[in-house]
Amino acid sequence: MKKYVFINGKYILKDEAAIALFDSGFLFGDGLFETIRSYNGKIFLYDSHINRLFKSLSILRYKLPLNDAYKTYMKISLDELIIKNKLTKVDTNIKIIISRGKYEKRLDLDSAHQPNLIITAEEIAPYPDVFYLKGVDIITSPIRRVPYQNFLYRHKLLNYFENIYSRNESNALNAQDSIFLTSNDYILEGSTTNFFMVKNEIVATPTLDLNILPGITRETVIKLCKANKIKIKETKIKYKDAINADEIFITNTLAEILPVKKFDNFEIINEIPGRITKMLISFYKQKTISK
Ligand SMILES: Cc1ncc(COP(=O)(O)O)c(C=O)c1O
Repeated sequence: MKKYVFINGKYILKDEAAIALFDSGFLFGDGLFETIRSYNGKIFLYDSHINRLFKSLSILRYKLPLNDAYKTYMKISLDELIIKNKLTKVDTNIKIIISRGKYEKRLDLDSAHQPNLIITAEEIAPYPDVFYLKGVDIITSPIRRVPYQNFLYRHKLLNYFENIYSRNESNALNAQDSIFLTSNDYILEGSTTNFFMVKNEIVATPTLDLNILPGITRETVIKLCKANKIKIKETKIKYKDAINADEIFITNTLAEILPVKKFDNFEIINEIPGRITKMLISFYKQKTISK
């Protein structure tokens, strides 16, 4: 079956799609992306994803019209792509990718006047059920971050190699994600996920002040806790407290909520998924169905 991608207003056959060699995204990773999921053809939390992307585009000075008309244009293009790729009845992994385009002056952000807008949409390859029923392993990333100093981690940059490298370290150990810590042992986030733990019935997740990605699933989980009277705090979490948690889970748009059974060499001794993780998985599912 023919599959298309969207590039700058045109639907191009996937195998024929290309962008220019001198694009700043290709040469330097100067671009942003957003991963969005559809359930049964319906896009989940579009506004939250697009608002995060637009905020980053504005802060990092991409030359695009960041107004409602452009949001609508992107949404119409995306819906059309879902129809063209015959994805209206399945769950879809959607990527919106923006690269800054060609610098007219060497490495000068403001000299790139024609960003590229690319959208891809493919059927999701679901994670195995056993991940949700028995939990996954996670490890500490070999890469440490200096706390507070790099605000760029708040954005979904195309320059993703630190994450990819960390993720591959966990793959090598049959673990599902690799967690970045600060140089003084505070938990930050996974290479592709946000981190949550539960201790004494209280859910905790690293605060955004630590310069982590403001995950859309993280935000949804926080809202679900609040709506269901589950105590939740956004705080600083020490590694030594995380490995003594009653429950741990990691979140992202495609995986939703993944229970963790082992963090490095430390096993969660309670039932997996734990009581609160199980409740949140169920609340999250209901939200995806009711949308
Ligand atoms: C570094 C990082 N943190 C967190 C997340 C989770 O974000 P979201 O829930 O918006 O998918 C991702 C997603 O890919 C990520 O790359």
